Amino acid sequence: MPIPKLPIVILISGSGSNLQAIIDAVEENELPVEIRAVISNRPGAKGLQRASCAGLRTEVVDHTQFDNRTAFDEALKHSVEQFEPRLVVLAGFMRLLTADFVNHHLGRMLNIHPSLLPAFKGLNTHARALAAFKAGEIKNHGASVHFVTAELDGGPVILQAAVPIEKDDNPETLAARVLGSEHQMYPQAIRWFAEGRLRLQGNQVWLDEQALDAPVLFAPDDD
Ligand code: GRF
Repeated sequence: MPIPKLPIVILISGSGSNLQAIIDAVEENELPVEIRAVISNRPGAKGLQRASCAGLRTEVVDHTQFDNRTAFDEALKHSVEQFEPRLVVLAGFMRLLTADFVNHHLGRMLNIHPSLLPAFKGLNTHARALAAFKAGEIKNHGASVHFVTAELDGGPVILQAAVPIEKDDNPETLAARVLGSEHQMYPQAIRWFAEGRLRLQGNQVWLDEQALDAPVLFAPDDD
């Protein structure tokens, strides 16, 4: 009997290169998930084209069409729920979510953030990391996969990839290397969840029945 695939929904706002990495991993039979839909808050998101090219169902819940965040989140919740996902994957989804939405999906929603959390929550992480590097405060930048909680970029971290900063980096070159790590790392964390190896209990991340006392450091060959 083939292992049943975990139904997931992916939320995007932009380019969707992480979405593409997930699609590629599914197509290569490396990720036991069924992508039931890709939902964007921006009608022009390039990721929607990537999803269509892969034959995936797409939806748009355009935040500019709603009076307030609560109304948008209600519509988004409705859009997500019709696909009955067991995991919601935020992949470059650039809207703050209400506590109600987050708590509804607690323990079954992941995000990827381009920094070594808890450093550099929020936006412009690459420029801020470079400034810290130039001030001699850090050597590495990177990315983190975490469970989503009501605190922005504050949920328990599962997996991190460190990316050494080079002296001649600018925000774009650094961002490109971090993004490369994201593409390798995100499918792995999703796979752990799909295989039933990863869960959130309270504020604690469990992997393979071990309570993590620190995020796992990403190594491409980890299974
Ligand atoms: C990534 O750097 C991700 O960490 C952040 O937004 C960016 C999305 O890139 N949340 P893409 O849309 O997956 O190409």
